[in-house]
Amino acid sequence: MAERKGIILAGGSGTRLYPITLGLSKQLVPIYDKPMIYYPLSVLMLAGIREIAIITTPQDQDQFRRTLGDGSQWGLSFTYIEQPSPDGLAQAYILAEPFLDGALSAMVLGDNIFFGHGLPELLAAADAQPVGGTVFGYRVVDPQRYGVVDFAADGTVRAIVEKPEVPPSRYAVTGLYFLDGSAPARARQVAPSPRGELEITSLLEMYLADGQLQVQQMGRGYAWLDTGTHASLLDAGNFVRTLSERQGQQIGSPDEIAWQQGWIDAEALRARAAMFGKNDYGAYLLRLCD
Ligand code: G1P
Repeated sequence: MAERKGIILAGGSGTRLYPITLGLSKQLVPIYDKPMIYYPLSVLMLAGIREIAIITTPQDQDQFRRTLGDGSQWGLSFTYIEQPSPDGLAQAYILAEPFLDGALSAMVLGDNIFFGHGLPELLAAADAQPVGGTVFGYRVVDPQRYGVVDFAADGTVRAIVEKPEVPPSRYAVTGLYFLDGSAPARARQVAPSPRGELEITSLLEMYLADGQLQVQQMGRGYAWLDTGTHASLLDAGNFVRTLSERQGQQIGSPDEIAWQQGWIDAEALRARAAMFGKNDYGAYLLRLCD
């Protein structure tokens, strides 16, 4: 079977972060020392995914191309796809259908930041499923802002509900979706919701109805950070700074992951480090090659 391909959905207008996002895509806003999209990109790379479609608004695509290039600096291949209007997460599968060409996929939202020991193993387990889909449930205090898992008494998943007024549980569905090759065809069957969007939850419900959706718990040892408000954006940056300064190890560095995965050699990593001159990120990469 073909390799699983990746999708990063980085569209939207980011109105909740205005005025910052008047001239800059939300997913390029800094989380401490790196652009936001580096973090979800790192998740796909940890899952071993090298062919990735980056979906953006037409007007923001140039910013992403300047920031990320064609992916070859990390041994990756990027395909840029335009989403003319933000008509829902499930639309990403329709837009990416030619790119996916029947392959399994992992889609991550460009503003979702994951951190936790054991993440590579969690991703590997999801990647190992050739049929159906895997999503991740994460306990939050404000589930009504998300897709929420409705569990039956025996713990099986009964439904997934998008932004319910009365949440059936505290478990939000994170913005990371491992789906099989049927995702684009299913996405084309999704009817627009009352808010006019092709909801990802409608697509997930189709998998659920066929008994083909796994909901994995992402336990308390993980951080799934919010970046939707000015305060949570700053908190996420401080989280990354606190951990990386304490440990002297990077979080969400595509350069380091590409090097660890053996997708780039020392010379390529050195060239990247040189680009960042004498800043801490560049110095860190230099130390890796030595
Ligand atoms: C979207 C999805 C929701 C999911 C969330 C994760 O919400 O619709 O199911 O829980 O992403 O970040 P949105 O960001 O569109 O409000």
